[in-house]
Amino acid sequence: MATVAHRRGDPDQHDAVIERAVRLLRIGEVIGLPTETVYGLAAGAFNPDAVAKIFAAKDRPRFDPLIIHLPHPDALDQVATVESQLVWDLIQAFWPGPLTIILSKRDVVPDIATAGLSTVAVRISEHPIFREISATFGQPIAAPSANRFGRISPTTAGAVFEELNGLIPLIVDAGPTRHGIESTIVQIVEDRIEILRQGPITANSLRKLARVQTRNSKKFPITAPGQTSSHYAPRTRMVVVDSFKNFSVPRGLRAGALCFESVPDLPIVRQLSREGELREAAANLFRMLRELDNEKLDLIVAELVPEQGIGSAINDRLRRAAAGFQTNG
Ligand code: TXA
Ligand code: MG
Repeated sequence: MATVAHRRGDPDQHDAVIERAVRLLRIGEVIGLPTETVYGLAAGAFNPDAVAKIFAAKDRPRFDPLIIHLPHPDALDQVATVESQLVWDLIQAFWPGPLTIILSKRDVVPDIATAGLSTVAVRISEHPIFREISATFGQPIAAPSANRFGRISPTTAGAVFEELNGLIPLIVDAGPTRHGIESTIVQIVEDRIEILRQGPITANSLRKLARVQTRNSKKFPITAPGQTSSHYAPRTRMVVVDSFKNFSVPRGLRAGALCFESVPDLPIVRQLSREGELREAAANLFRMLRELDNEKLDLIVAELVPEQGIGSAINDRLRRAAAGFQTNG
């Protein structure tokens, strides 16, 4: 049974929650923690047994590597080597924050954390609670999103509870996460920034530092399941449409809508942003998808958002969420 520890402005309770979280990390447990993107499933990165528990709780295949979260930038040298000035420029511009950088790994990082790769994915969260726990723990933390493998990433403590209750001892509740989608993942290739996963740091903001290329999964070999087409999947069958205007629900099906601009006439509707704001839409995306998934519908119909800014990361998640259903019928 997971305990959900709330932080509600009471300083005594705050300290007790932080202390308990750190104690559990020190004894090699895995716990649910808030970050600015989505909730993470955290364990001490240098403890292979603790890292193994992450894979077990998520039911994640061992070939899918984890992101390592540093307590502070000085810890980078412990886990990775930096071979290009561009990496320092990225760190300067975006850390702490929702940018994960793929670097050459040092031997102290256990192979289980990186699935045997010679590279390691690294970031520093800017979430105040994550930072406090991570600073007190003092060592790098391995933390993938706190969902069962292939499922919708959790953006609230309640969603982590839904996914992992009974499998972890503690979930630290700090309310809904700010960005709502996972960090942008980049890798430096020659003098370019290659985006492996789109996220809150957009191609446009990266373009200020160097040439940017978004990896097209059709052209490049898949290196990790996060880049496979089917991911973030609800249990309910799901399709994406360019617009509800040209879509009608097959007769007899009870359908729900995830919409952005137009609000369709369906029994259950979630609108990503009433103001038409893409940042707000991203923050609501996984929570609303999860709510629709819990409505026992026959079909979820999601409308794609404009391909601008964070909109392309939203569309990427929507397409992947629907992908498994398109191939399996
Ligand atoms: O916002 C986030 O990044 C959240 C929060 C909790 O930090 N974490 C997260 O982790 O989304 P996860 O494990 O759900 O997604 C990490 C992705 C996976 O698709 C994994 O395959 C990829 O990063 N990855 C990890 N290490 C890699 C590496 N060395 N090379 C290429 N891809 C890597
Ligand atoms: Mg994930």
